[in-house]
Amino acid sequence: MIEIGGKAAGLDKPLEHLTACHRRIEQRLATLVRAGEVFESNPTEARQAIANSLAFLESSGVRHTQDEEASLFPRLLPKLNPEDAAFVEALEAEHKEADAVFTELRELAANISSGNRERYLDAAQRLQAIYSGHIAIEDSRLNPLAAGKLDTAELAAIAEEMRARRGLPCS
Ligand SMILES: [Fe+2]
Ligand SMILES: [Fe+2]
Repeated sequence: MIEIGGKAAGLDKPLEHLTACHRRIEQRLATLVRAGEVFESNPTEARQAIANSLAFLESSGVRHTQDEEASLFPRLLPKLNPEDAAFVEALEAEHKEADAVFTELRELAANISSGNRERYLDAAQRLQAIYSGHIAIEDSRLNPLAAGKLDTAELAAIAEEMRARRGLPCS
């Protein structure tokens, strides 16, 4: 999805790019929750907003997780002390937890109606809560850790893999 007026961090700075993607993920999660809250009064618009946000998370959101799990974490882990390595492994576990709730949310969204709106909203709020803590710790701890441990060549290799995963930055 192209964000009009949005400024994408370039892929030449992969860590900044990952942080910029966090803001976009947060926006979509907020939309998913809001759509559940207002579904009764405006179901057509809510369904469209849900579809758009799920499409973003299924494409850009999935690539973001791949960027971390396949490009960033494997380069970072061998350089970390046991405590920091456990921290990064816990982030991977949170990805799995988020994936499970996302699957549940997607199924509820496919059949959203007045009858199951509360279940949908509960799942959307749980997913938002998981990501809220996850993203906050990635921004405050993972990003500085990676910036301190990875050299220019490693960051360039990560950027190259991220570029290969997509046609446009954070598209
Ligand atoms: Fe993550
Ligand atoms: Fe992330």
